Amino acid sequence: LMIYVITPTYKRPEQIPELTRLSHTLRLVKNITWLVIDDAESKSSVVEKLLNKSGIRYEYMLAPMPNEFRSNKKYLPRGVSNRNKGITWIRNNAKTGIIYFADDDNTYDLKLFEEIRKTKKISMFPVGLVTHLGLSTPIVKNCTFIGFYDGYYAGRKYPVDFAGFAISVEFLLKSPNATIPFKAGYEEDLFLKRLLPFSFGDIELLASCCTEILVWHTQTKKNHPTRKTTMIK
Ligand code: UGA
Ligand code: MN
Repeated sequence: LMIYVITPTYKRPEQIPELTRLSHTLRLVKNITWLVIDDAESKSSVVEKLLNKSGIRYEYMLAPMPNEFRSNKKYLPRGVSNRNKGITWIRNNAKTGIIYFADDDNTYDLKLFEEIRKTKKISMFPVGLVTHLGLSTPIVKNCTFIGFYDGYYAGRKYPVDFAGFAISVEFLLKSPNATIPFKAGYEEDLFLKRLLPFSFGDIELLASCCTEILVWHTQTKKNHPTRKTTMIK
């Protein structure tokens, strides 16, 4: 069964290091198609070279963030056009398989991919290092869903991170109009609400009934390489 990994990326000094790390993880996963979607107007030959030498089955696509959203510096809908492009590609090219949204800067345990392969409809699992609480996860009792633990509820029905769920291609295809909205902070919630209705009881709880963390929302510290350093005289 194919796993379609949708990775938004964008040009900055950390892009190649992030994609190098992620590609080295994905190299170890069987039956994956890596959809790498660049928030850029033109393709990057450096990214393309990296993808080529990875040996991973991939599609490299472009999906620049519309300018009207780019100008809103405070609430940037990061990775939205990219993920929507990936969703459209899957609608046009796949009939079965699993979809997982994997940002370029997160850290993934290989076991995560074994787990999400079990997804029938929609699965969820813990994500480490999200918000000040350090964890975003379904709350589970006797392997039954009872709620969500997340540092940012904001009135959301599904207070989850993109890294914390997977869906089957079949399930996506049942909702032909479901896209991710350009609404910073509400992308996951509104996307999940646009899918065919499912109840909390339908959520497949992976990672040993959500007792294991298999993905971390790591964030790379910016090194500001253009800034002068006071350490060098
Ligand atoms: C958090 C969430 O984990 C993301 O799922 C969510 O998209 C994001 O917030 C948001 O909505 O702002 P965070 O670590 O804060 O993630 O964001 P980034 O990792 O900077 O960006 C998320 C993804 O979008 C990354 O794969 C990144 O490469 C990409 N991105 C970011 C772009 O394509 N364009 C940008 O201008 C910025
Ligand atoms: Mn991130």
